[in-house]
Amino acid sequence: MTTTKLRRIHTVAAFAATVFIIPLLCILSSCTTKETSHIMPPITKVAHRGGSLLAPENTLASFQRGIDEGCDAIELDVHLSQDGVLIVMHDPSLFRTTEREGYVGEWSYAAIKELDARSSWHGEEEYGVQRVPTFEEVLALIVRQERQVALQVEIKTDQNNHRYEGIEEAVVNALREYDLIERTVIISFDFPTLLTVREIEPALRLGALVSRTYLETIGLDGPAAVAASIADLGVEYVAINYTYLSAKLSDEFRHSGLLIGAWTVNNEKDIRRISAMGVDFITSDRPDLLRELLP
Ligand code: G3P
Ligand code: CA
Repeated sequence: MTTTKLRRIHTVAAFAATVFIIPLLCILSSCTTKETSHIMPPITKVAHRGGSLLAPENTLASFQRGIDEGCDAIELDVHLSQDGVLIVMHDPSLFRTTEREGYVGEWSYAAIKELDARSSWHGEEEYGVQRVPTFEEVLALIVRQERQVALQVEIKTDQNNHRYEGIEEAVVNALREYDLIERTVIISFDFPTLLTVREIEPALRLGALVSRTYLETIGLDGPAAVAASIADLGVEYVAINYTYLSAKLSDEFRHSGLLIGAWTVNNEKDIRRISAMGVDFITSDRPDLLRELLP
């Protein structure tokens, strides 16, 4: 073959590569990227009670710790004191986390704020006295951060499983005051609470928490029935204890248009397994593990 012929072949090959092959590869690679991000969207990392295996739960220290560990959102629980102040605590009873007898709803804010919320902390790290925070104190902490941290606010019921009168309005008003409506999802096991929140502030996103009792009743009709009944509430999110989340239930939630969350996932094996199911958020007491394992 002559040198001229060889040059012509090279020129034609270079032309074909520029005009056909390179654009084709670009199209294919962008399809692949889109497909991948569709299958594995980023999972929102949620620090449960701030991250209760790293710091005393539901305290300013735990919320700061969850944020410092890189979580996208913190989860917290709210009750109402006797005099109508929103108190951040998991149980309706004061005892487990403060060693004080009685219930949040029976004590004034002035009395509760004197309590140290470290009684349930058995970790190695030492923390100084942690006062029981009010909801407003946590919101103030959130807006002080350099980056935008989201919130999952769980509205609890009292020791008799009754709704605290006016708690939904109090939560909405505080979120409005701190301009945090858009960054918040209100979650609850009590679905009427969620519907009340929607009436007061339709812009707030809602998440229904699926309890074991719910699964033992509606769940008897199968995963499709559970997903349909949650979707009928008109909420955006559903969340469930990860031990109850099967691939089938996750698919049914997804087909019903719900965003899916799982709690409380605290070890590597389970975080990997649950994230592979394609959930939208994972709530953990180990925000450090979420940071290590999730993109
Ligand atoms: O994030 C939901 C989860 O917090 C519900 O369970 O008992 O920890 O409030 P619990
Ligand atoms: Ca909670």
